[in-house]
Amino acid sequence: MKRLLLIGTIATTISYAGGYTQADRITDMQKMAQAMQDIQSGFFYNNNDIVKDGVKTLKETIIKVRPIDSEVNTKDIYEKWINNSLKMTNKIQKKITQKATDIEDRFKSGDAIQALQAYSKITQQCMKCHVQIRKW
Ligand code: HEC
Repeated sequence: MKRLLLIGTIATTISYAGGYTQADRITDMQKMAQAMQDIQSGFFYNNNDIVKDGVKTLKETIIKVRPIDSEVNTKDIYEKWINNSLKMTNKIQKKITQKATDIEDRFKSGDAIQALQAYSKITQQCMKCHVQIRKW
């Protein structure tokens, strides 16, 4: 258990020091897609724990998303574009994190309609990035 925690810490440190690959990002995307599905199942089965788990995974994953190294390294040509993408990414990350918290709070307090609204706002944010900077 301790060793697992240590490996986790090292992996996190490395990912902050760079080395975010396209494969990492694809994995993160798949994790988020699964989390969104889990949240939706939680709504339908009226299961607060499933919603909560999905929200947790979503929040932990969205903050990792960023341009991969090779994209950052082509900065001279695309500098402005990358900077815009980063700004937009930061904004989206903040919104998704906020709305994910809303989902958890609203659903727990029995307000499924508001929870669903927060959910659809997250979907809009996912698609916003996919439409505008999926190719970064
Ligand atoms: C900041 C930009 C950004 C945001 C926000 C974003 N995505 Fe993505 N997504 C991408 C990019 C870029 C790709 C293409 C894969 C790659 O090159 O890393 C992608 C690909 C995907 C894929 C396909 C992965 C595969 O297996 O090929 C899924 C699924 C996905 N995103 C789901 C989501 C979900 C769900 C959300 C919202 C919770 C989301 N994305 C938010 C940028 C984003």
